[in-house]
Amino acid sequence: MRAFLVDRYGSGAGLRAGEAPEPQLGADDVLVQVRAVSINPLDRMIRDGEMKTILPYRVPFILGNDLAGTVVRIGAAVTRFTVGDEVYARPRKDRIGTFAELIAVHQDDLAIKPATLSMEEAASLPLVALTSWQVLVERAHVQPGQKVLIHAGSGGLGTIAIQLAKQLGAHVATTTSTANIDVVKSLGADVAVDYKKQAFETVLHDYDVVLDPLGGETLKKSLDVLKPGGKIISVVGPPDAAFGRELGANPVIRLAMSALSFQTRWRARRRGVTYSFLFMKASGDQLRELTALIETGKIRPVIDTVFPFNSIPEALEYFAAGRAKAGKVVVRMT
Ligand SMILES: NC(=O)c1ccc[n+]([C@@H]2O[C@H](COP(=O)([O-])OP(=O)(O)OC[C@H]3O[C@@H](n4cnc5c(N)ncnc54)[C@H](OP(=O)(O)O)[C@@H]3O)[C@@H](O)[C@H]2O)c1
Repeated sequence: MRAFLVDRYGSGAGLRAGEAPEPQLGADDVLVQVRAVSINPLDRMIRDGEMKTILPYRVPFILGNDLAGTVVRIGAAVTRFTVGDEVYARPRKDRIGTFAELIAVHQDDLAIKPATLSMEEAASLPLVALTSWQVLVERAHVQPGQKVLIHAGSGGLGTIAIQLAKQLGAHVATTTSTANIDVVKSLGADVAVDYKKQAFETVLHDYDVVLDPLGGETLKKSLDVLKPGGKIISVVGPPDAAFGRELGANPVIRLAMSALSFQTRWRARRRGVTYSFLFMKASGDQLRELTALIETGKIRPVIDTVFPFNSIPEALEYFAAGRAKAGKVVVRMT
């Protein structure tokens, strides 16, 4: 089958279009013919070797973390899916490789594609929608009336997180550049701070939850917008010891992770708020919960550009160069 592979780590290494063996199907696996994929910042980070400590893929490997497609075969123990089903997924982290004609996905990671969406629209959602769910529902337990700040509201993650937070009944503030103020408002943001013109920490106060996809100074300043008891959840780090435990990392790595986030946790504690790091997980069950919100129009995909299959490397570069205006970059397979 045709696939896009990483032969060696590094930013200059690129992606090779080539032939790869068809995936082997385990008893719990579903073989999916990939019809569309989307690009995530994680793809570039994996290719460049930035994630090697926590995601040590052995080269050559097929890149890609999101997909929508059609079931072409099922393993002996598969109960939920049948040949011909249209599905979408973010495969679990040790089973990535959606930039290919076929992929074997564990049935627990898969869900039936929302009937109201095209393959391209469905492929834009799994990783960012699951992340939004895991931050806002699972970790933060956002309640109606709470105030939630979602940074980078025009990004792949932000566009979905804003909509989910609104569905949870929250008052939502977001940060974005001038050109995307109307986009984030159309997604439901109650307050849109133009970070090119205004320092968000001077206008936002008493927030219950902050979703941080930016880190650095933004993370530091975000501690000041939380009210006592508030929570900041970062998806870019620094990592914490709980994440190390979740990964099953050895004590040295866990200690290193704890040390990396020590200052942030200390600052948070001094302000009476909590800091945690989250790395999203695959989940078919959570995708099904999201499907219900998507099919009733409560969450809609936001797509910047659709590229053809042969242009996956160009799509990756376009996205990595920050040329997408808002939402996701998607690739249609042929
Ligand atoms: N840990 C996890 O499980 C997990 C999961 C998903 C994503 N992530 C991470 O989260 C980050 C965002 O992901 P994404 O998919 O949303 O990326 P993306 O689609 O590239 O979006 C990034 C957005 O950041 C905005 N931005 C840049 N500087 C900003 C600033 N100072 N203030 C506010 N907004 C700013 C840009 O919008 P403007 O054009 O408006 O500037 C851009 O749209 C990435 O680093 C990704 O790796 C982690």
